[in-house]
Amino acid sequence: MAFVVTENCIKCKFTDCVDVCPVDCFHVGPNFLVIDPDECIDCTLCEPECPANAIFSEDEVPEGQEIFIQLNADLAKQWPVITEVEKPLPDAEEWNGKEGKIEFLER
Ligand code: SF4
Ligand code: F3S
Repeated sequence: MAFVVTENCIKCKFTDCVDVCPVDCFHVGPNFLVIDPDECIDCTLCEPECPANAIFSEDEVPEGQEIFIQLNADLAKQWPVITEVEKPLPDAEEWNGKEGKIEFLER
C-alpha cells in the first residue's frame, strides 16, 4: 500500500506535501508531483498537508481517479526527487478544484 497523488495536484503543485515526507518519496514533473509507491511508508503525514486535497491512500483513491495509482508508479521512475518546498504554480488557486485536469498533465 502507498499514498497516491491524484488529479487535483495538476496545475497547482503546492508542494506542502514535500516538507513532511520522512522518506523523500515525492518526485516532480512540470506541473504535477507523484509518490514513489516503493518508497512510501504509509505514514499518512502528507495527506492533510495538501491544500488541494489531492493525496489519498491507495485504497481510498476516489472513483474515476484509479488511473493515478499506476501514473504515480510510472512517473516516479522518470521524474527526479523533490525535497524542498517550491512556490505553487502561478494560477494554482484558480485551478484548485477544477475537474478534467488530466488532459493538462505535462510529462
Ligand atoms: Fe511520504 Fe508518508 Fe506521504 Fe508516504 S504517506 S508519501 S511516506 S509523507
Ligand atoms: Fe500537489 Fe498537494 Fe503536494 S497540490 S504538490 S500533492 S501539496
